[in-house]
Amino acid sequence: MKTELSFAPLAGIETELLAVLAFDTQTAKGPDVKPTPVLLTSDPAVQAAAAAVLASGEFKAGANETVLLHAPAGLAARRLLVVGLGKKEKLASPAVRNGAGTAVRFAKPRAIRELVLALPEIEEYAARSARASTEGAILADFDPDTYRSDRKDQSVQQFVLAAHPATDQAAVKAALAEGVIVGESQNFTRALVNEPGNKLTPTILGARAAQMAGEVGLSWDVFSTEKLRELKMGAFLGVAQGSAEPPALIVLRYEPEGVTGGPVLGLVGKGITFDTGGISIKPSENMEKMKYDMAGGAAMLGAMRAIALLKPKVRVIAVVCAAENMPDGKAYKPGDVVTAMSGKTIDVINTDAEGRLVLADGLTYARQLGATHLIDAATLTGAIGVALGHFNAGAFSNDDEAWSRFSAALAASGEKFWRMPLGDEYADQIKSDIADIKNTGGRAGGAITAAEFLHVFAEDTPWIHLDIASLAWVEDSRSYIAKGPSGVAVRSILEWVRSY
Ligand code: BES
Ligand code: MN
Ligand code: ZN
Repeated sequence: MKTELSFAPLAGIETELLAVLAFDTQTAKGPDVKPTPVLLTSDPAVQAAAAAVLASGEFKAGANETVLLHAPAGLAARRLLVVGLGKKEKLASPAVRNGAGTAVRFAKPRAIRELVLALPEIEEYAARSARASTEGAILADFDPDTYRSDRKDQSVQQFVLAAHPATDQAAVKAALAEGVIVGESQNFTRALVNEPGNKLTPTILGARAAQMAGEVGLSWDVFSTEKLRELKMGAFLGVAQGSAEPPALIVLRYEPEGVTGGPVLGLVGKGITFDTGGISIKPSENMEKMKYDMAGGAAMLGAMRAIALLKPKVRVIAVVCAAENMPDGKAYKPGDVVTAMSGKTIDVINTDAEGRLVLADGLTYARQLGATHLIDAATLTGAIGVALGHFNAGAFSNDDEAWSRFSAALAASGEKFWRMPLGDEYADQIKSDIADIKNTGGRAGGAITAAEFLHVFAEDTPWIHLDIASLAWVEDSRSYIAKGPSGVAVRSILEWVRSY
């Protein structure tokens, strides 16, 4: 999708589809209350063209509600689409992101290949809205249809953001450029997460990461079994040994010129390209979903892509631990004891709790490489979905300062993470009878004991853990995003990095 900016009056813009956004400003309730949608453009020609439908009471500008007019009077556009954003008091950028997405996904199945979105005129929000709507448009254009032989590429080829000539043109231009980078980076992650296990082995994930790194100017290394042995990554190796596919330890480095001191941020991702559960094998129902068990690793790769292109002044290292978790004659077994890179011994109670094992060594390695602050992302536990449903992902932290930066990052990214507790009582649940710790802590607080397991390896380095198992896959298509991989966490990790 190509993106462009226009500062021309809306009436004269020739396009297949002109989309404008509207807030629902009705505050009264009751059976006879009429909707009062308000268009977010001051353009008199658009106001006039939409006046009748807005007065009709048919359209209340609810979130992602649409109404379409053909051959709108007084406009050069062939169609005028009004997209609702819902109530005005809601935070503007998530609504704008979704509203722009709804316009693009309205166009796609109707073979409309180009559209113009009137940048909403929300006071002081021009740049933020420009970024949010560009992101929303790019995210909406993505469909996970790579493997369909009847695939017709219905991508919207051109997305034009039409801003009022009086807006700060330079700021809007920069915001659009940023939105393109962020949206495309999140789609890069989504494309990886969508790949099936047979098409995306750990080795291939490593190759895809290396290719991306080369394109955006990051330095990279992709190691395998021999290096894992050299580093004594017994936990990671334990998981990997049950698969005929060798593991990949993917390291990407972002080293901005002139930045020598200051923090080094370590981004650690779980890259299980397929999780059968191993010897503690999963039931076959829904097992196919476990191709997305590398979503945390893919989020780190997408975030690194955006970081390389947006060039914040802070050093960043990403470590993605990629392996397949398989049952095999050589597979690790329940009851095995493995020695992690840090020297801690781990009693493997359940081979399906493999994510925390690969991350244990990933966190230790990131610290050895010099990370002063850590963030990890992983589809770590089913329990996080039980706790939070599919509308929030879980976040944990041992450091209030790192957390407050992350919390501020959420306001910019529009993503939903809910901070969960840590605590010694939970850590007690993973004490082992025969080793330093065990890899499961029972059903109660399953997402928290998993986080406490990682905490053992982060130690007192400021650290944030993101359990994205609840949000990595969108279960139902929505008007602004396709069913499938969500790319969650890319935007928040990026904003967190930019806060340093
Ligand atoms: N990859 C799974 C977690 C998962 C579940 C991700 C559902 C996405 C959707 C993880 O490796 C796992 O199997 N966790 C176990 C841990 C248990 C054995 C302590 C779980 O959640 O059941
Ligand atoms: Mn598992
Ligand atoms: Zn897993």
